[in-house]
Amino acid sequence: MKPRSSLAIVLAAGEGTRMRSAQPKVLHTIAGRSLLAHVLAAVTEAGVTATAVVVGPGQDDVAAAAKRLVPDAATFVQRERRGTAHAVLAAKSAIAQGVDDILIVYGDTPLVRPQTLSRLRAPLTKGAAIAVLGFRPADAAGYGRLIIAGDELVAIREEADASPSERAIKLCNGGIMALAGDSALAILQRIGDHNHKSEFYLTDAVEIARGMKLRAVAVEVEEDDVRGINTKSQLAEAEAVAQQRLRKAALDAGVTLVAPETVFLSADTKFGKDVVVEPYVVFGEKVTVEDGAVIRSFSHLVGAHVGKGASVGPYARLRPGTRLGDGARIGNFVEVKEAVIEAGAKANHLSYIGDAFVGANANVGAGTITCNYDGSEKHRTEIGREAFIGSNSALVAPVKIGEGAYIASGSVITEDVPADALALARGRQTIKQGWASRLRGLKLLAKKKAHSHD
Ligand code: UD1
Ligand code: CA
Repeated sequence: MKPRSSLAIVLAAGEGTRMRSAQPKVLHTIAGRSLLAHVLAAVTEAGVTATAVVVGPGQDDVAAAAKRLVPDAATFVQRERRGTAHAVLAAKSAIAQGVDDILIVYGDTPLVRPQTLSRLRAPLTKGAAIAVLGFRPADAAGYGRLIIAGDELVAIREEADASPSERAIKLCNGGIMALAGDSALAILQRIGDHNHKSEFYLTDAVEIARGMKLRAVAVEVEEDDVRGINTKSQLAEAEAVAQQRLRKAALDAGVTLVAPETVFLSADTKFGKDVVVEPYVVFGEKVTVEDGAVIRSFSHLVGAHVGKGASVGPYARLRPGTRLGDGARIGNFVEVKEAVIEAGAKANHLSYIGDAFVGANANVGAGTITCNYDGSEKHRTEIGREAFIGSNSALVAPVKIGEGAYIASGSVITEDVPADALALARGRQTIKQGWASRLRGLKLLAKKKAHSHD
């Protein structure tokens, strides 16, 4: 049988007033990724054949984000915010192209899993015109209620329009709907705005379909799949669920998380085999950790690649553009940015390595700083393989330290150092024999004089 074609319509035009933020709601993040990105990832993984994203007027940033995430997504602007059905009809031209199934997904429902979307589509193959995801939330406030009779969905009642007995219904609308392509437009175009908010409610599609002698059903799922985010509290709750899922997936894949509840992951964090992550580590977006690496406590990583058997932290900060080779060691209070640290190289204590290349097995001593910024531009530092940088050295970029070269401690290096050379760039030490005891003698004398005048 030919696989059914499908169009996902992601509604993202809402202002998100309840977030009390200048940022569009769907661009807020959980697990290092925007709500919109989570939803788009779920529909893509569910295998939809086309994607449309509906944004609000002036939300060019949301449209751009959608295009970046799914380059062939079509974006539509809902000029006035007149409700969820009105938003769907902003993508009318995409619907009119004709597909087997239409999936309507709200951009503020980021935890939906691809398998849940597939479950929702299943009733359409058995002749239903509409399938709606239902769930029983701990707190139903704000959700539409699903009115069921037998195995059919009769209506969805928005809370503001519900009677007291309808409000007592525990089964709620998850905000994700599948519509059969052949009847979708006819249903959507009949939706009116005769309700409490004078909005075109997508949820009215159910009663209209039944009036057209079409069938609607509910598919019940766990609350975590359909948590809607309207407030910062709900954003934090969704973050907690996302983190739990990511930790579980990492553990199931064989990563050792000593205290999983203290480790924060991003949706795109990638681990090899036998990786150990100690308590209290934060992984921002775009981090890969290869086999056998150890990430020690209180480290913060973003945009970094950690090679096989490398060791990071405790208290290390890896910023975007960091690439650690196999067995490299980055120790406590070391910050690395835009830098390649080749295999076996070490920076074990108190350093800043930015815009740099550190060759294999080089040793960067405690307190070494690459002075990469001159106040207006960034410059590069290159440290050759096997080089030794003595403690508390400042390498003023642009500068190259040759292979196997040796930098004396406390040097301020402003010129290139040839391979295998020693560079000393600090004041020469002088010794004044007996100077300290003479000083003490003078002080004692002064004190005695003062007393004799009392
Ligand atoms: C909606 C549902 C409710 C359901 C809940 C699930 C309706 C009428 N109500 O309520 O039954 O229980 O979601 O979370 O559908 N949007 C637009 N344009 C608009 C209005 C909304 O694009 O004109 C988008 C929003 O960006 C959001 C989504 O549609 O992503 C849902 O809108 P929202 O206002 O959050 O609906 P709820 O009140 O949560
Ligand atoms: Ca909502």
